[in-house]
Amino acid sequence: MATVVLVGVQWGDEGKGKATDFLAAKADFIVRYQGGNNAGHTVVVGDEEFRLHVIPSGILHKDKTCIIGNGVVIDPAVLVAEIRGLEQRGVQMARLFISERAHLILPYHRLWDAVEEERKGKGKIGTTRRGIGPAYSDKAARTGIRMVDLVNKEVFRGLLRENVDCKNAYFERVYGAERVSFAEILSAYEEYADILGKYVTDTALMLHRAIAAGKNVLLEGAQGTLLDIDHGTYPFVTSSTPTAGGACLGAGIGPRAIDTVIGIAKAYTTRVGEGPFPTELHDELGKEIRDKGREFGTTTGRPRRCGWFDAVIARYAARINGLDYLCVTKLDVLTGIPRLRICRGYRWGGEELEGFPASLDCLSACEPVYEDLPGWDEALGEVRRLEDLPVQARRYLERIAELSGVPVLLVGVGTRREQTIVCRDVF
Ligand code: GDP
Ligand code: IMO
Ligand code: MG
Repeated sequence: MATVVLVGVQWGDEGKGKATDFLAAKADFIVRYQGGNNAGHTVVVGDEEFRLHVIPSGILHKDKTCIIGNGVVIDPAVLVAEIRGLEQRGVQMARLFISERAHLILPYHRLWDAVEEERKGKGKIGTTRRGIGPAYSDKAARTGIRMVDLVNKEVFRGLLRENVDCKNAYFERVYGAERVSFAEILSAYEEYADILGKYVTDTALMLHRAIAAGKNVLLEGAQGTLLDIDHGTYPFVTSSTPTAGGACLGAGIGPRAIDTVIGIAKAYTTRVGEGPFPTELHDELGKEIRDKGREFGTTTGRPRRCGWFDAVIARYAARINGLDYLCVTKLDVLTGIPRLRICRGYRWGGEELEGFPASLDCLSACEPVYEDLPGWDEALGEVRRLEDLPVQARRYLERIAELSGVPVLLVGVGTRREQTIVCRDVF
């Protein structure tokens, strides 16, 4: 397997958790490299469902080393609850490590996220309100607090004091909002430091040694290409770099260490939160896909907007991430829809566009150019070989690969680990 990056192709929730869990069987190290607890990665093992937010989706395999990389922002309250919840279900944390360089999410980040969304009103981003954007803002402003600072009580106290004073002044004067309490945060975070301290280490050095020793490393992205701060539908994006380059930054490895990049794409498209979505279905069919695909946010429970597969997005993601393969998930959800559509291109101002527009005005005005394909009625949940899929389902997958320019490696036909078709052997 060597070093493999797994990245979302669309607006998140493509099934990265399930794919990571599936591929983790071949990996020694599994690394989350960006995002925070805005992510919700669902993994179903046997009859048990696990919802992971910060811990890598490889944790459900015994004997794998799981790393929370420096590019992740950590809400320690959420991480401690996640560790405890998993331990109660018999999952071992002995091989969990957290980068000392990962930044913290603090209560003032959550408050800031909320008041900023309120201020924006109708123009809100529709964030998860987990404090993600503000935590990354502090990181970029060089006022953030890292895990290495959390575990040094003196250092933490000083940094917290400075931040709380500054943020409170800002909350009061700019937003007329409530203040946060230094003493309350200090006491809670000192407790988190005691619990999390043993996991905190130089994870980039660990990975360097692992790669040099020929270990297999799987880097798990959160969110997706169109939520990327640089390449996504800005400003309706998250504040980190889910795209493949972010794996280098967020894990502390060089670009030449990466051997393979796999894009995870749903067989249709979904989006949570605001922002343009050219192939969105506003009709009954959109609702039908939402119900059949159980398209409700893992983190916030919000209904996901649903639409047709968009090959313009897939081609864009292939370029930005350098995709070697696609993993197409949730093909089973499309069973019973008589006519399926794939968006082949965007028409704008009388011509078909080559790239993916940066201007949201342009993207909102783009008219999808569709190809229609016949659907199928057979349930796919028991299919394990490509050749056993209905011919229409195979044709649908082939067209996705042709229009995206990327071969299909895996196909998902259900939530469970084993409901996966392996199309080609690369590992
Ligand atoms: P992630 O954020 O990319 O990990 O995706 P989520 O876990 O938020 O959302 C994907 C949802 O689809 C989860 O509930 C998964 O259990 C489910 N899922 C993943 N792959 C498949 C599949 O192939 N078929 C079906 N029916 N569900 C799937
Ligand atoms: P996973 O890893 C889907 C969306 C939010 C919002 C925007 C910004 O499960 O695929 P943020 O809280 O990050 O500032 O919100 O990004 N968003 C996601 N959408 N899946 C996710 O993660 C997401 N994480 C953030 O809905 O539109
Ligand atoms: Mg999710």
